Amino acid sequence: MSGRIPQQFIDSLIDRTDIVELINGYVPLRKAGHEFAACCPFHNEKTPSFTVSPRKQFYHCFGCGAHGTAIGFLMEYGHMDFIEAVHELASRLGVDVPQPEQHRKEATPGLDIYKVMERAAGAYQSILAERPAAQAARDYLAQRELTADTIKTFRVGFAPEAWDTLSKVLGGDAMTHKALMEAGLLSSNDSGRTYDRFRNRVMFPIRDSKGRVIAFGGRVIGDGTPKYLNSPETTAFHKGRALYGLYEMCQATRKIERILVVEGYMDVMMLAQHDIRYAVATLGTATTVAHIHRLLRLAPEIVFCFDGDRAGRDAAWKALKTALSVMSDGYQIRFMFLPEGEDPDSIVRREGRTGLEHRIQDAVTLSHLLFDQLKSSVDFTSIDGRARLGQLARPLVAEIPHGLFREMILQELSNLTGVDIAGLERSLTSADVIKDLSTATRTDQPGGTKGRPSLVRQAITLLLQCPELAAETGEVALFSGLEQRGMPILLKILEQLNERPGLSTAALLENWRGTRYADHLAELVARDGLHDRDAMSHEYRDIIDTMCRRYLDQELQNLSTKPHNDWTESDRERMQALLQAKRELSAEPGKS
Ligand code: GTP
Ligand code: MN
Repeated sequence: MSGRIPQQFIDSLIDRTDIVELINGYVPLRKAGHEFAACCPFHNEKTPSFTVSPRKQFYHCFGCGAHGTAIGFLMEYGHMDFIEAVHELASRLGVDVPQPEQHRKEATPGLDIYKVMERAAGAYQSILAERPAAQAARDYLAQRELTADTIKTFRVGFAPEAWDTLSKVLGGDAMTHKALMEAGLLSSNDSGRTYDRFRNRVMFPIRDSKGRVIAFGGRVIGDGTPKYLNSPETTAFHKGRALYGLYEMCQATRKIERILVVEGYMDVMMLAQHDIRYAVATLGTATTVAHIHRLLRLAPEIVFCFDGDRAGRDAAWKALKTALSVMSDGYQIRFMFLPEGEDPDSIVRREGRTGLEHRIQDAVTLSHLLFDQLKSSVDFTSIDGRARLGQLARPLVAEIPHGLFREMILQELSNLTGVDIAGLERSLTSADVIKDLSTATRTDQPGGTKGRPSLVRQAITLLLQCPELAAETGEVALFSGLEQRGMPILLKILEQLNERPGLSTAALLENWRGTRYADHLAELVARDGLHDRDAMSHEYRDIIDTMCRRYLDQELQNLSTKPHNDWTESDRERMQALLQAKRELSAEPGKS
């Protein structure tokens, strides 16, 4: 996704935003030395370990390990996705986000999907209310026990059994036709003829958070297939983000305490009719991270409601896995299962609001479901089974952001498996995919000083902490051939800083967003580094210098393994040049 907004625009956003000011708007900061501090908003604490560095434009909590850029902060704290965070920063600065290519093309002037959707929704509504041909639909809704009030609130309508209702009602001109096509309200057949997508269906408009109609779900009357027909994805409608009932929920309640996520349109409506106005439904798709982010921005608690059958259990497990990466402290995610053959619609009609809310009370927490599921998939009584449990849990725990919740999960896992927490943490980090950077470069070579990071890693760390050091690198060719893990990353960073001098730490990190190295690089930034510019410069030059020497030694070594008789003229020249370079280096210690 990040590829679609020009990186230069992101760079300039980071460059022009002051992260201290940004965060201070949410979490009041105090000056503390070179940095600013507060009690961490991502975990519970009494003494401040959350710091914001104006120099790096980066925040970091020593307590829970949370860290990131201004964009990262909005994503974590504000539960925004990347695009939303970029838009937020842009609007603070009063600049427009450049339109991704694809959207620009679609934005034909005068062609407004929202407008045509709104008109269609109005048309379907009045057809349901007025036309004799809608009698069967009215009867059906009555039989489903939907009241006139609910029908009005959710703007339920009816699409009659005809191929050209919309063009008759909304107009047959070319512009309307084109808009109807773009909105997915018309389909076309092989011979290019177009006709209404929705026919003889009860229509449920899907609205975005601003109340604009962005799509429809259409249900057959009685039995028939497909039971539901949904609008196709359009520029206005993305199934993975939209939630049915979200707008209606926000209209009904100012401060929402809890959101119930159900599966069906009918469930949302029937719950609202019984005064449970905090339910939304995904649109026949699995719950996405975007859904969860959106919901957690509205309420601190989400309760997922699933059928008690196999399919419902599977769907719940999927939702759980999706939710893990979003579980920061202070949020609660729970799961409830209904008896087989029931759905919230049937339960609330039979048991009423009180009955359903009792069931919500009994919903299990995410961690409860997590461990239940894990325990049920191994023979928990045997040592092997417990070891297997640890293995199964590892990739799941790795998804959870650092913080209290993660610690609690680790504690529980430790109780169950008998492995101490430190051991679990170790196994988590060693499972890390970023071998190039983390494990392999931790020491230079077997004989190297134990525990001391490799030269490449040190150089990367210094550059991340103080990008302007890149200007002091000298000739890259003098060490770029050094065979050390992580070298390609170092070279890439140098190239980025060379192309765009003046990039801040945060902007540099944003250039790596979405790559497999992003997290690891951010961790190197989060490290407490040197603060003194001269000291950093000194250390950086030293490292570059050492790498140059090592590279020369490596090349000399390689040459000398070749039998002398086989040496070509160019080998001899190369040897001369290498020896010369080495002499020069020794003559000017500390300079590369
Ligand atoms: P009723 O059967 O009228 O009570 O509908 P429901 O809203 O309870 O639907 P159900 O529980 O059968 O399915 C849950 C949701 O899955 C629906 O609301 C739809 O979003 C989706 N869905 C169900 N059937 C279909 C289908 O045939 N096609 C599509 N695209 N989605 C479906
Ligand atoms: Mn149902």
